[in-house]
Amino acid sequence: MECKVAVIPGDGIGPEIIREAKKVLDKVGQTYGHTFHYTEVLMGGCSIDAYGVPLTDEALETAKANDAVLLGAVGGDVGNSRWYQVAPNLRPEAGLLAIRKGLNLFANMRPAYLYKELADACPLKKEIIGNGFDMVIMRELTGGLYFGERYTKEIDGLMTAVDTLTYNENEIRRIAVKAFDIAMKRRKKVTSVDKANVLDSSRLWRKVVEEVAKDYPEVTLNHMLVDNCAMQLVMNPGQFDVVLTENMFGDILSDEASMITGSIGMLSSASLNETKFGMYEPSHGSAPDIAGKDIANPIATVLSAAMMLRYSFDLDQEAAAVEAAVQKVLTEGWRTADIMAEGCTKVGTTEMGDLIAARI
Ligand code: IPM
Ligand code: MG
Repeated sequence: MECKVAVIPGDGIGPEIIREAKKVLDKVGQTYGHTFHYTEVLMGGCSIDAYGVPLTDEALETAKANDAVLLGAVGGDVGNSRWYQVAPNLRPEAGLLAIRKGLNLFANMRPAYLYKELADACPLKKEIIGNGFDMVIMRELTGGLYFGERYTKEIDGLMTAVDTLTYNENEIRRIAVKAFDIAMKRRKKVTSVDKANVLDSSRLWRKVVEEVAKDYPEVTLNHMLVDNCAMQLVMNPGQFDVVLTENMFGDILSDEASMITGSIGMLSSASLNETKFGMYEPSHGSAPDIAGKDIANPIATVLSAAMMLRYSFDLDQEAAAVEAAVQKVLTEGWRTADIMAEGCTKVGTTEMGDLIAARI
């Protein structure tokens, strides 16, 4: 198969982790007879340096012309970087929001899975971890507070800032359908998270999710308020299969879910639209403090590439081979610094990529 992939290394550790993911993809190509054609695209701080904006129209068009996008991470040190001395719509993160919206990537899947090899890195007590957990956060990605009308102005002599949270029923329906579809391939349970005791948008969310649920009689649906969900994630994470939620709640809960897996350096993500097109990126950020030191964990990016194989190219067997290679490397005791434990062998970014590629 010929696979056209737009690659956005981005900033900070982005280029290093992307290099390792490409190494693994190329090994998949050799082993299974596929060719990956990469086109590099600038986004984030590096695009600001080159063009003065975090995402150019040309970059967006190039992304669209490919079958999928593989993204490292964008952004710098908010306190120190020149990239943050400009208006909010010109900062690195604005590029990320623009590409999500521009490609209509409304469904963001963030799996949070506890590898038994990493159970010691999980901050939860053993009795809470139990038999571990394996959940997917399905976060709405192109609506809600992130994209609502916002402004800051003086009203009645007081500086006032407004952000609006808007969802229409179609936006809710299409993400709910994605969540139920994924649940059908998993343990058939959807937990829809909202704040229906306060917000109108959440009450509509609940109503539409219930309508969608009628088409999936095999899936069990339960509703949970977001504050309770934040608590349940650290009290009984094993109860979750698919967590369906709006953009801002999903942003917060997915960081929490990732932390209980032991390291955010392990978590992949896929952002999908109605077609096979998707953007795949690690759930973590650009970590400028460790950039260029060959210590970043490339596993989240490698696993994101596996998601790309599965969801954009229907290469299930190849995706499973990448996931199995990661599992094998962990079982054999290889660790990057963030997941290092007693009795294991510490390796850098490049060596971790070599180890994974060699097991495919
Ligand atoms: C994420 C990130 C982004 C978000 C930031 C960088 C804008 O936190 O992907 O979770 O809030 O969506
Ligand atoms: Mg986030």
